[in-house]
Amino acid sequence: MADTHDDRPVPTEAGQRAGALSTERFENPGLPPHVPRRADVDPKAADRASLQVVILFSLSALASIAFVVAYYAIDPDLKGYLLGIGEMNLFHLALGVTMGISLLGIGLGTIHWAKTLMPDQEVVEERHPQASEEDDRVAVGQTLSHGWRSSQLNRRTAILGSAGGALGLFALPLVLPVVAGLGPRPRQELYHTNWESGMRLMIDPSGTPIRAADVTQGSVFHVMPDGFVGYEAFEELGAEEAMISKGKDQVILVKLDPSLIKSQKQRDWGYDGIVAYSKVCTHVGCPVALYEQQTHHLLCPCHQSTFDMTDDCKVIFGPAKRPLPQLPITVDDEGYLVAADEFREPVGPSFWERNRPGLLGGGNES
Ligand code: FES
Repeated sequence: MADTHDDRPVPTEAGQRAGALSTERFENPGLPPHVPRRADVDPKAADRASLQVVILFSLSALASIAFVVAYYAIDPDLKGYLLGIGEMNLFHLALGVTMGISLLGIGLGTIHWAKTLMPDQEVVEERHPQASEEDDRVAVGQTLSHGWRSSQLNRRTAILGSAGGALGLFALPLVLPVVAGLGPRPRQELYHTNWESGMRLMIDPSGTPIRAADVTQGSVFHVMPDGFVGYEAFEELGAEEAMISKGKDQVILVKLDPSLIKSQKQRDWGYDGIVAYSKVCTHVGCPVALYEQQTHHLLCPCHQSTFDMTDDCKVIFGPAKRPLPQLPITVDDEGYLVAADEFREPVGPSFWERNRPGLLGGGNES
């Protein structure tokens, strides 16, 4: 009797319709006729191509030997002057050139060999179904359950438990040094930036304060807090502090048409259409610095997360899961833009204790 068993999923009605449509629209073009190459029909051309391949591989071999010779024979500090380039280290130059020729010879030789001498007929390889036969699957299942029963682990639970404990704890000596070696916990440093109420927004890296009245619509500024900007910050704070500040305090400031701003909170935390947002991407922390003036979208160059500046920097595309945090701003007595407060939520990517109770509220949590 014929085997009527068929494991393939039954196509839905829509699937059948789509299938019928696709076979109607796209006929199988089949394989194009094989066109013999010159080396296929002319033995002399084949010999020539073969010789060229040998020459390329030999060139590669010679370059490899030259690399070794250069490595031992040339003084690593030897400098020379090359026209159009200037002074450079000749040891590195020799190693780079010989290795480059060596790789190039292998690459070109292989391509030439494949294109001119290897068989180039296209073939269709019919695939059998991926799943095993039903009988084989049943047999494997029986073998496994027989093994489980004959191991007696189902009855000797103490052995099972102790073996599980031994294997589980065996991971500890491997994992513990790694976890313990991660250094001190960042504690408050993930929650707070250096922004404080009254701190001026300074253009990065010039350190120029920004007068609100001078900001024209569509303007974009990259800003840092007063005292943490430019080379002075490196001198006064030291390189490490300055780099940490640069990593978490960076802010992008944009002046929007106030009528475009969709959220009341965003309007309240801005000043006359000027809004300031953390530049640290909420995905994995790259600087979000590409502002598209026509669409008012902010783009992260790393993985293309896109934030809508007119809608409180909500994510409209990409892997980021949270909006960019907004920095509340206002102006001081002289009309310069200042922070009205610090960030009301942690900037940057999420972390396990991000929503810990007690954190300043009011951010654009979502
Ligand atoms: S870091 Fe911005 S999208 Fe990944």
